[in-house]
Amino acid sequence: MSKKILVIGSSGQIGTELVEGLRARFGDQNVVASDIKEPQAKQTGPFAMVNAMDRRGIERIVEKYEITEVYLLAALLSATAEKDPAFAWELNMDSLFIVLELAREGKVKKVYWPSSIAVFGPTTPKDNTPQRTIAEPSTVYGISKQAGEQWCAYYHKRYGVDVRSIRYPGLIGWKSAPGGGTTDYAVHIFHEAIKNGKYTSFLGPDTTLPMMYMPDAIRATIDLMEAPAEQVKVRTGYNLAGISFSPKEIAAEVARHISGFTINYAPDSRQAIADSWPRSIDDSAARADWGWKPQFDLRAMVDEMMVNLKRELA
Ligand code: SER
Repeated sequence: MSKKILVIGSSGQIGTELVEGLRARFGDQNVVASDIKEPQAKQTGPFAMVNAMDRRGIERIVEKYEITEVYLLAALLSATAEKDPAFAWELNMDSLFIVLELAREGKVKKVYWPSSIAVFGPTTPKDNTPQRTIAEPSTVYGISKQAGEQWCAYYHKRYGVDVRSIRYPGLIGWKSAPGGGTTDYAVHIFHEAIKNGKYTSFLGPDTTLPMMYMPDAIRATIDLMEAPAEQVKVRTGYNLAGISFSPKEIAAEVARHISGFTINYAPDSRQAIADSWPRSIDDSAARADWGWKPQFDLRAMVDEMMVNLKRELA
């Protein structure tokens, strides 16, 4: 049977770029995009409207397109989830159960589910955070990701479900807008710098967080999914490191492209979330198991973001 992929949550920050990446690699018609809303972007392949919590709806799409792999990206992110913890838990968990059950029943062969640095909490060692360490998350988003990771590992061990996951750091890209995360400042700063020459950060100047340029994250995701099953030894979520920087440090890089750029700081409730997360990540397991290696450092990422966003916003 040939590979047929379903991406649930295809209109979001990761989904938009992942669908593009998967279609480039496996063919437009072999990747079905799906979301609860009509897509903004022009589709080059099939699209189906579905609620990630609608088991029958998802099953119908799986049957219709003979789906073999599901990438489940629908979720509330850290900041948005704090506004409605009960709904965040429901969406983030119910959607995962639906997909894990479809895999357990043999209706799909492989599952991808994103985890996050949010599985870590205030008691986690902050620098070079190990793959296995104290993880006492303080946000509902983090709790849902941590519990979800354990469910993935459970379905793998008990039922042999081939489910794979990455603990993404903050993701930065120009093709799609972020939605409701604590790391979103590192995307907003580019838009505001280009449009207004200034930015007010909702995180303080020295809040260092692990981040990654989207092309690295998309490549990692597809590489992990394409790795031979026996190489995927971690069945919770893989630590993945890209670039760690603070608002002050990215502002200095942005200023190289926008003369007179200024940054102000007005930390809000997202500061506490950021303060609970690691500053940098040890990703040696991902490197050893399936050959992960990031390509973009801070300067290369900022240079690319600027070129592309200046063109897009012109
Ligand atoms: N970048 C995400 C957030 O800030 C973390 O997974 O919510």
